[in-house]
Amino acid sequence: MIDLRKGDCLELMKDVPDSSVDLVLTDPPYNIGKDKWDKIPNYIEWCGEWLKECQRILKLSGTLYFWHNDIEQSSELVVWIKNNTDFVFNSMNVWDKGDFRALSWKNPSCESDLRTWFNTCEYCYCFVKKQGLSANDCNKAVRRYDVNYNLINLRNYFKSIAEFIGAKNTKQINEKANTRKFEHAFYVFGRKAVIEKSGKYDHPTRVGSCQWEFPNRENYNELTELFNLRDFEGFREYDDLLNEYNKSRYIHNVDKEHNNVWKSNKKNNGKQHSCKKPSDILERIIKVSSDYGDTVLDCFMGSGSTGVACINTGRNFIGIELDETYFDIAQKRIADAEKAREEQ
Ligand SMILES: C[S@@+](CC[C@H](N)C(=O)[O-])C[C@H]1O[C@@H](n2cnc3c(N)ncnc32)[C@H](O)[C@@H]1O
Repeated sequence: MIDLRKGDCLELMKDVPDSSVDLVLTDPPYNIGKDKWDKIPNYIEWCGEWLKECQRILKLSGTLYFWHNDIEQSSELVVWIKNNTDFVFNSMNVWDKGDFRALSWKNPSCESDLRTWFNTCEYCYCFVKKQGLSANDCNKAVRRYDVNYNLINLRNYFKSIAEFIGAKNTKQINEKANTRKFEHAFYVFGRKAVIEKSGKYDHPTRVGSCQWEFPNRENYNELTELFNLRDFEGFREYDDLLNEYNKSRYIHNVDKEHNNVWKSNKKNNGKQHSCKKPSDILERIIKVSSDYGDTVLDCFMGSGSTGVACINTGRNFIGIELDETYFDIAQKRIADAEKAREEQ
């Protein structure tokens, strides 16, 4: 499905249903006066509007990438996102443009003119939509490890299991202790009992640690039998837990040399758009952060580079562009890419 819309994304995104998009990959105006569309009053508030729409249309655990290269404004944006949205910062990635501007690099107009480094890169910020819990609900290790706090329900389930095991397997708990301490003591004794049986059951009950791990089927079933977990009121079957685990994990299909400095093998002639992004990098982002058949949205589509990358990787695409000339270029590029794919 390819859905191209001409007009202001602040208006047109309203027609995109809630929780219907898997990945937003977009390249907004940087507000550096590069073109007529690149001077925006109240820039951060304006970005806030489309970012809130991205939040609404993305599925839980969906991923948002946006390009930028004005560090002051993008830093403000990152703080705004932290304070005003359900997005959790994932990574700041660098597009290394290689010998871009090589000529001016070698021949600055005058030796004494240079007072900073030539900027030969752009940045791509990545956020993941979290699953409704606030950062305060998770301890530091969980925040660091789960990134979008998406596994906290599962961690809590295994905490309850440890408490259940602890309550059944110890008699030495101080009855005068308050409930919270009491529960914690059960948890500690439960963990001890689990580890005593075998180290292979240990990690699922390390609930507040970055070493927490979802158990495999065999270990979970053994644990169930060993400690009669079916007597636990909230007991859940393995498939039920696995289903939640798979749904909660955001997509991140790790590829080769998976670091955050990206190089492109494509030459950018800049003819179709002065801010055109390289198709190989876009394809890579799409493959890492979505699955075949998923839906990707670019609300500042320009010449349609994200759309072309979606065709090449078998994703659905929703593209929005305000400028008629760019819209027409995008439409043609995407149609050509579709034709080329059909002919393959
Ligand atoms: C940085 S460029 C995107 C270039 C694109 N990545 C490419 O490879 O061609 C930003 C685009 O956003 C468009 N734009 C600016 N404001 C917009 C708005 N409110 N709604 C939709 N598009 C807008 C501009 O016309 C411009 O083409």
